[in-house]
Amino acid sequence: MRGRHRPIPWTQTTAGTLTQADRALLADTWRRRARAEYLAISTFSVLSMDLCAAGAPADVLSLVHRSAIDEVRHAELCVRLASVYGGGEEPPPSGMSDLPDDPARPRREQAVANALLVSCVAETVATVVLATLRQEVTDPVVKAVLGVIYADEVTHARLGWSYLAYNLRAEDARFRAVAGAMIPVAVAGAANVVDAPKPEDETSPALKAHGFVTPTEERALFARTVREVLAPGFEALGVAAGDIVERFGDRWAARAS
Ligand SMILES: [Fe+2]
Ligand SMILES: [Fe+2]
Repeated sequence: MRGRHRPIPWTQTTAGTLTQADRALLADTWRRRARAEYLAISTFSVLSMDLCAAGAPADVLSLVHRSAIDEVRHAELCVRLASVYGGGEEPPPSGMSDLPDDPARPRREQAVANALLVSCVAETVATVVLATLRQEVTDPVVKAVLGVIYADEVTHARLGWSYLAYNLRAEDARFRAVAGAMIPVAVAGAANVVDAPKPEDETSPALKAHGFVTPTEERALFARTVREVLAPGFEALGVAAGDIVERFGDRWAARAS
């Protein structure tokens, strides 16, 4: 959490030591991350409406709005990093994400389901990916940017887990069933994001020093997150995680891109 307000030492970038091809690949990677961060702004805005409609506790409402603001900063940081590797600053395309919305569904059920989707699953996966990426990064600028983003994503994940626990404590079996039904949907959705088309696998240590992760590594990380974090996390709260560990296990991770 101490990383949250750390200044970024932009002038210390080591991008100049890379080949043009590596720089282009990294610019593309950070542009893609900027797009994802930009979409995350509206993800939290939409989630905030679900949480307001459901009368969520004040600390959860505060955190969801803070999260949207954090994502603006993440998008800005990624845009600037992309420009460090690949020329001018290019804002991400405008657009917004949507979340499942069923007007006929009780508001609190929808809030629980969408908080699980966005926060417990997507943000928890993001924290594991970031924590792992950071270990091999040596470029001071990328290290600082990942430190800031990581500190925020941890909070974004906590928001969902605490809201889920709060609802389960309500001793209303409904919320346990709502959560159990959303888990496979949310994990499959996150797996689709991991599987989105990306540049070819590269294994250059130079790229790793600048925050690059190969699609193969990303799938392996996702499988590990499902097995070691998500499934045990849901089960610790008494929510059956279904077959997510089998569906997104090593076989899923190891298949060819
Ligand atoms: Fe983010
Ligand atoms: Fe986030």
